[in-house]
Amino acid sequence: MSLLEIDGLTIRYGGITALNGISIAVTEGETVLLVGANGAGKSSTINAIIGLVPAAGGRIVFDGKDLATVPCERRARLGIGFAPEGRRVFPRLSVTDNVLSGAFGLGRAHQKQALDWLCSVFPLLIERAKQPAGQLSGGQQQMVAIARAMCSFPRLLLLDEPFLGLAPVWIQQISAAIAQMKQRGTTVLMTEQMARPALKLATRGYVMRGGEVRRSGTVAEIREIALADEYL
Ligand SMILES: Nc1ncnc2c1ncn2[C@@H]1O[C@H](COP(=O)(O)OP(=O)(O)O)[C@@H](O)[C@H]1O
Ligand SMILES: [Mg+2]
Repeated sequence: MSLLEIDGLTIRYGGITALNGISIAVTEGETVLLVGANGAGKSSTINAIIGLVPAAGGRIVFDGKDLATVPCERRARLGIGFAPEGRRVFPRLSVTDNVLSGAFGLGRAHQKQALDWLCSVFPLLIERAKQPAGQLSGGQQQMVAIARAMCSFPRLLLLDEPFLGLAPVWIQQISAAIAQMKQRGTTVLMTEQMARPALKLATRGYVMRGGEVRRSGTVAEIREIALADEYL
């Protein structure tokens, strides 16, 4: 059974159709990539899963539960973690408090366990623990955003363009961190415009364009079309 099943999802913003009946499935343990140029509908898909934008049609089922009946704030508790596009950290909160905000309401023992593990993955969280997150570089902020999303130990981790605007050295470090999340058994659904580094992490993917899925399959099957789209 799929952990996440999206069936015929349509999203509209006023008169604009951003997603036109797309279907996507993610099985437990997979790392699935939504790849496509700017405006393809990647963020709309992610934002619909976490409940930030309403669906105009179709269904989103997580762990057997139709999310239409689950309000936004309860979806995190079901086991969905989310790092938004543009890595919006709380700029004045310390690095530690940013990370812990992802485990809000989960109890001290859980928070300590999560923070200990995350500090072993991201040494930055120790080195910069007390620094306001707004003072960090873009790559460092992305690490804080991913750590925050992982702090609840979600079953499904959603990453919206984790490489956006980052230098290659940071893309490498973020990739290594995502690989560790995978190793921990976390199921990942990530979006990217930058197909090349993203294809290295994924097991399977969907190439999106103009609110539709153009091609889906294993990384080998979608590589060519994903890379051709990268330079549009
Ligand atoms: N809040 C919004 N209001 C109106 N149009 C939007 C809004 N958000 C996205 N769109 C439009 O929806 C389409 C898909 O956007 P988006 O999901 O952000 O794509 P991507 O994340 O792949 O760049 C684009 O045409 C975009 O301009
Ligand atoms: Mg986007």
